[in-house]
Amino acid sequence: MAKHHVTTTLNGNPVEFLCEARQTMLEVLRDELHLTGTKEGCGTGDCGACSVTVDGRLVCSCLMLGVEAQGKAVQTIEGMANGTTLHPLQRKFLEHAALQCGICTPGVLVAAKALLESNPDPTEEEARYWLAGNLCRCTGYNKIIEAVLDAASEMRRA
Ligand code: FES
Ligand code: FES
Repeated sequence: MAKHHVTTTLNGNPVEFLCEARQTMLEVLRDELHLTGTKEGCGTGDCGACSVTVDGRLVCSCLMLGVEAQGKAVQTIEGMANGTTLHPLQRKFLEHAALQCGICTPGVLVAAKALLESNPDPTEEEARYWLAGNLCRCTGYNKIIEAVLDAASEMRRA
């Protein structure tokens, strides 16, 4: 099958790739670009494990075609830490033990980062509402919310 040539920006770096028209962005990230931090849970837009941002907007990469990344700026979990320095959200997730199996964690972190970029001082209710599309089978959510609010507090003070 003919492949499409796509030019995009990925985690701040110019990237080119070839993909079939039917391939999702999630498949491109994992299978073509070997960025396996973005997870597949449902493949149908219901779990949030595949969350990335595209031009700053939070999207499920399982619902986006790879060819739609043409000319866009895509951010994945691989772009969250600054070298070996973890993002405050990543550090707070570790401090609060806000993960167990970790399958949901990249998507939750990407979604939480998008939240704090649009609302640096969310209430608990706002954080829970924003992250309602990110399903976790392990943690019961409380530790995730505590970590997000703690990171928000630290980021406001910084
Ligand atoms: S894998 Fe995309 S929302 Fe579940
Ligand atoms: S830590 Fe296992 S699904 Fe969230």
